[in-house]
Amino acid sequence: MHRAAHTAVYSCSKIVGPAMIRQCLKCRVPQQLSSRAYSVVPTPRDSEEKEMLHRILRVDHAGEYGANRIYAGQMAVLGRSSLGPLIQEMWDQEKVHLAKFTEILAESRVRPTALLPFWNIAGFVLGASSALLGKEGAMACTVAVEESISEHYNSQIRALMEEDPDRYTELLQVIKEFRDDEIEHHDTGLEHDAESVPGYWILKNAIQLGCKAAIYASQRI
Ligand SMILES: [Fe+2]
Ligand SMILES: [Fe+2]
Repeated sequence: MHRAAHTAVYSCSKIVGPAMIRQCLKCRVPQQLSSRAYSVVPTPRDSEEKEMLHRILRVDHAGEYGANRIYAGQMAVLGRSSLGPLIQEMWDQEKVHLAKFTEILAESRVRPTALLPFWNIAGFVLGASSALLGKEGAMACTVAVEESISEHYNSQIRALMEEDPDRYTELLQVIKEFRDDEIEHHDTGLEHDAESVPGYWILKNAIQLGCKAAIYASQRI
C-alpha cells in the first residue's frame, strides 16, 4: 500500500516536474477563505469594478500566455544545451501561472484578449530569435521580459492595495506570488550573463518597449 502510494507520487512528479509541484503547493488558496463564494476574485459590485477587474485578469492571462510562448521558443533552440533544464524550470513555473489565470478567467467569466493568436506567434518568435543570439541573448530576453512583468504586477498590487486590500486579498496573494517568481526569473537571467550579450541595453529596451505595447493592447482588446 505504502509502496503503491510512493510509486504514484513518483510517477506524478516525473510528469509535472518538481518546479510545478512546488508552485502548486505555493499558490493554493488560503484555507480561511474557503467559505467564500469565490476562490480569487470577488463578484464585481458595479460596472466600474467589473471593468477594472476584467482588465487586470485579461492582461495578466495574456502576459503569462506570452511568457509561455517565449520559453517555448527558447527551448526550441536551446532545449538540448546546458541551459535547457534551467529554461525548462522557468517555463514550468510559467505553465502554473498560466493555468491559474486560465482558471480565474473561467471562474470570473472574463474573455481572454482577442490578441492571443498574435501573442502565440510573437512570443515564440521573440524567444527563438533571442536564443539564436546564444545563451546570453536568451537570458537578456528573460531579464527584459521578467523585469517588465514584475513591474507590471507591482503596479497592479499598488492599485489594488489603494483600492481595497481586504476585498482583493486572494487576488493580491496570487499576483504577489507570481511577481516573486518573475523577479527570480529576472535574477536568474542576470546570473547567467545576460548583460554580456552584444547590444544588451538596446536589446533590453527594444523588448521592453514591445512588452509595454503588449500590455497596453491586451488590457483593451
Ligand atoms: Fe509568469
Ligand atoms: Fe517569469
